[in-house]
Amino acid sequence: MHKHHSALGLAAALRPVEPVTLLRPHAARRAARFFVEKFPGKSLYAVKANPSPELLQILWESGVTHYDVASLGEVRLVANTLPEATLCFMHPVKAEEAIAEAYFTHGVKTFSLDTLDELEKIVRATKEATDLNLLVRLRVSSDHSKLSLAAKFGAEPMEVKALLQAARQASDALGICFHVGSQAMSPAAYADAMERVRESIVDAAVTVDIVDVGGGFPSTYPGMEPPPLETYFEVIHNTFEALPISYSAELWCEPGRALCAEYASVLVRVEKRRGAELYINDGAYGALFDAAHIGWRYPVKLLREPESDTKPMGFSFYGPTCDDLDHMAGPFELPADVQPGDYIEVGMLGAYGCAMRTGFNGFGVEDRVIVDDEPMASLYGGESREAARSNVVKL
Ligand SMILES: Cc1ncc(COP(=O)(O)O)c(C=O)c1O
Repeated sequence: MHKHHSALGLAAALRPVEPVTLLRPHAARRAARFFVEKFPGKSLYAVKANPSPELLQILWESGVTHYDVASLGEVRLVANTLPEATLCFMHPVKAEEAIAEAYFTHGVKTFSLDTLDELEKIVRATKEATDLNLLVRLRVSSDHSKLSLAAKFGAEPMEVKALLQAARQASDALGICFHVGSQAMSPAAYADAMERVRESIVDAAVTVDIVDVGGGFPSTYPGMEPPPLETYFEVIHNTFEALPISYSAELWCEPGRALCAEYASVLVRVEKRRGAELYINDGAYGALFDAAHIGWRYPVKLLREPESDTKPMGFSFYGPTCDDLDHMAGPFELPADVQPGDYIEVGMLGAYGCAMRTGFNGFGVEDRVIVDDEPMASLYGGESREAARSNVVKL
């Protein structure tokens, strides 16, 4: 893979025709070390956030040994890329064939579930294995999060007791897990969910060996600057310590976004301007799915030298396909004199953005270049460009 010292230097030197994904391995390394060193338990990387093998390798080298996989494709990918990694199959609805292959071919022993039917499936598919770690997923609120995960999965309070008691019979280690929704903007999300865990344990009167607080740890985006991650860790640690569980019980988490948001950004070119609308060469079917569909406002920067001294204004973007839906409302703040031929860096696309790219309409060619400069914002200190000039939280 090519390397370049900075996004700006790359745009000026290469003037690429296609969008370029800019990768910052040092940012992923920093995030991984942060979780490995500071989270008061074990961190499982949620592979769906960005399944690139290079990233998996970086996380592994930084001390992330466990991986949350949610499909057979992810099981096979991580098993092939990191043969010594521990895989945890954390999708609560799985095909029986997928469970069997995960268990017998890839040695996966950890599975989540939220119904008695799924428990029976796991027991059948593993031929009544006696070495399973089974985690019962609770339905918890997504009230503090930007992206809800409260509707689709999770056992309701009245179902949990029977489920925990049945799972206890079938497991070597029994766990409880939940997901507070993605981009949780307050540690209170975890405190509330831990209260649900406490009630469930008391009600079912079972011994619980693992408490998995899931993902949801935020990154930082315009208009979505969360408190320091350490405040989340503190709340989780304190509420975990207060649970009626054994001294040897383990605490797990499954960060996706927080481990890889800063890892990648995308360099795009402006092909046309119509007033405050910029037609760029990546969009809703590329790395900007969330910008189009849920109005996520990623940070943007005009990469021009000398820098424009025109006042900023708000722009919306159209992507390259022929589809009206390929529209990112923003507003994205850029100097008012942006014009066709200019390059823009769209930051913080390492989580989900890059993972959701499609080839629709003949677009989506992905050139990837490693750059050494800092991501546009950071929750992990370092000399991020944003932190250097403004109020980004440093830990
Ligand atoms: C089971 C599970 N764990 C972890 C994650 C990662 O969440 P996040 O990227 O918000 O940390 C997800 C995301 O959908 C998930 O479904």
